[in-house]
Amino acid sequence: MQKLAGKVALVTGAARRIGACTVRMLHQHGATVVVHYRNSKEDAETLCNELNELREGSCFIEQAELGEVVSLEKMIESVISKEGRLDILINNASSFFPTKIGEITEDHWDNLFSSNLKAPLFLSQAAAPYLTQSQGCIVNMVDIHAERPLAEHPTYCAAKAGLLMLTKSLAKELGPQVRVNGVSPGAILWPEADGEGVEVKLEHQALLDKTSLKREGSPDDIAKAISFLVCDAPYITGHIIPVDGGRLLNQ
Ligand SMILES: NC(=O)c1ccc[n+]([C@@H]2O[C@H](COP(=O)([O-])OP(=O)(O)OC[C@H]3O[C@@H](n4cnc5c(N)ncnc54)[C@H](OP(=O)(O)O)[C@@H]3O)[C@@H](O)[C@H]2O)c1
Repeated sequence: MQKLAGKVALVTGAARRIGACTVRMLHQHGATVVVHYRNSKEDAETLCNELNELREGSCFIEQAELGEVVSLEKMIESVISKEGRLDILINNASSFFPTKIGEITEDHWDNLFSSNLKAPLFLSQAAAPYLTQSQGCIVNMVDIHAERPLAEHPTYCAAKAGLLMLTKSLAKELGPQVRVNGVSPGAILWPEADGEGVEVKLEHQALLDKTSLKREGSPDDIAKAISFLVCDAPYITGHIIPVDGGRLLNQ
């Protein structure tokens, strides 16, 4: 018996990278999956076709700019009108870029806070009645840098720190029917904007040297932690699991 048969999961920012891997794992456990995307339409469609070939009608896509509260509410309504229920919400979508002190603009703030904090709050609020009905759960994708500042990323770190507190706060607000947890990745997939230059490779290696397991993790490591929180953790709520290869142990 598949653990998530008959359940419906919405994953934001899920067309590619960690989100897509999470979608595949939830689908493997039997869930019907909703792949949210903003710009990556082609990737979202390819992923969806792949999953629908494995199980007909088991995946659909939803487009939304997560900075607009009204589009978040519409997306939840659309999922309910198609599937009649929602059991799992994974707040995965995120923007990530440096903001050096002296150069930070209001647009930087709005961009980083809307994807990393505002959207998870308003999406959770819109989904809450349905998650309550289904005794469902939320998993927020946090970051180890919610607890330990990353140089030249104060705005991003503050937004993720807000998400860490939101996770705990929502667990309190939405219990006992809805469990709310988080996963904090360490070095899993390097930002695509980093490129592949020699200097960047050295920087990445320096970071891995400060990680107890001396290597980067994989999207699968994150998807497994999410899968544990969703499927096998009925008495865990309000907690954030670091999946960081021991990065938080080292300066
Ligand atoms: N990668 C890592 O090593 C790492 C480390 C620490 C934490 N994390 C966290 O883990 C999660 C997944 O990481 P990732 O690297 O796979 O993410 P990512 O590729 O950087 O971003 C995932 C998706 O978020 C969507 N997105 C961004 N801003 C949006 C907005 N305003 N509205 C709607 N969608 C938006 C984009 O969708 P479109 O492409 O469709 O536009 C993007 O593909 C994120 O929450 C990230 O902060 C990752």
